[in-house]
Amino acid sequence: MRRATIFSCFIILTLLVGACVSGPQPTNNTAARKKKGPNEPVVIGFSMDTLKEERWQRDKDLVEKRAKELGMQVNVQVANGDDNLQIKQAENLLTQGVDVLIVAPHNGEIAASIVEAAHRQGVPVIAYDRLIKNSDVDLYISHQVVKMGEMQAQYLLDHVNKKPANFVVVGGSPTDNNALLLHEGQMNVLKPAVDRGDVKIVTDQYAKEWQASAALNIVENALTQANNQVDAVVCSNDGTARGAIQALEGQNLAGKVLVSGQDADLASMKLIAEGKQTMTIYKSIQPLANGAVDAAIKLARGEKVETTDTIDNGFKKVPAILLDPVAVDRNNMLSTIVKDGYHKLEDICAGLPPEKCPKP
Ligand code: BGC
Repeated sequence: MRRATIFSCFIILTLLVGACVSGPQPTNNTAARKKKGPNEPVVIGFSMDTLKEERWQRDKDLVEKRAKELGMQVNVQVANGDDNLQIKQAENLLTQGVDVLIVAPHNGEIAASIVEAAHRQGVPVIAYDRLIKNSDVDLYISHQVVKMGEMQAQYLLDHVNKKPANFVVVGGSPTDNNALLLHEGQMNVLKPAVDRGDVKIVTDQYAKEWQASAALNIVENALTQANNQVDAVVCSNDGTARGAIQALEGQNLAGKVLVSGQDADLASMKLIAEGKQTMTIYKSIQPLANGAVDAAIKLARGEKVETTDTIDNGFKKVPAILLDPVAVDRNNMLSTIVKDGYHKLEDICAGLPPEKCPKP
């Protein structure tokens, strides 16, 4: 009897220690990979979180275009920020028999269940733009997000002309791994500046769901708290930058306080031309969309995908393709955004006083 008790304790202890040492474990319920033949068309499922920000419509259009060019079929589902809906839509895509899934997750943790569901059916999964955490996801394709955060903070630090300068930091949605990576990059630059005494951080907060209204609140409160003595607002994307600029406008400070962004949204390119937003991070979407479709076809055929990096998602080092971002301000928008045809100069300048329009 006593020996039996000691034995059961030993077993329980071993299981507990094993669980702690091995870390998060996706359920090991993986079916053999289905493989498409080299001439068979591949059916791609594209599960998107949102089309709210301008860029995502571009992602959708370019993924569809690339698939069509290559004679492949793509079925796009958009979850409008609803995790349960995104899971359900992904399950529907799997039931319809897609050969591969591309997922831009709303919540990087919760979407791990999509990877598990796909793998149960032998379907590979690509995390698109945003990483899927703690999962056996097959590939991650995105831009260099930590570097983007560094570029945002560094640009503002280089252009602020006060010491110490008062900084406000507005992150994105904390359920999006990109928001966390951006913050890591921003702090890589700001922390040493704080330690040197060059920067004071008035507040550092995440904007729920990347909402402009959340950014507006954060900046309004920061302005009150600092008696309007704010010199720079590190915003993580253009939508939140526009919320911040609205708060600054309320105090007649738009154009006087530096504001960063990301995405090169048309509305923000206008604000940059006007001098109300200082810079944005331009991420070319075409190589991202094309890269995802090309990789999806390869994975569906069981072929090797060339990668440039790896990224730790808490479960494994995920093979990754990470593209280069570009910092854009009023001075180089013509040689970047306009030159690439990302936006037309006439669209950027429409409705602006002619003197605000950057001259070719
Ligand atoms: C994307 C950004 C986008 C943000 C809000 C991030 O994950 O990388 O481009 O602005 O989500 O949708």
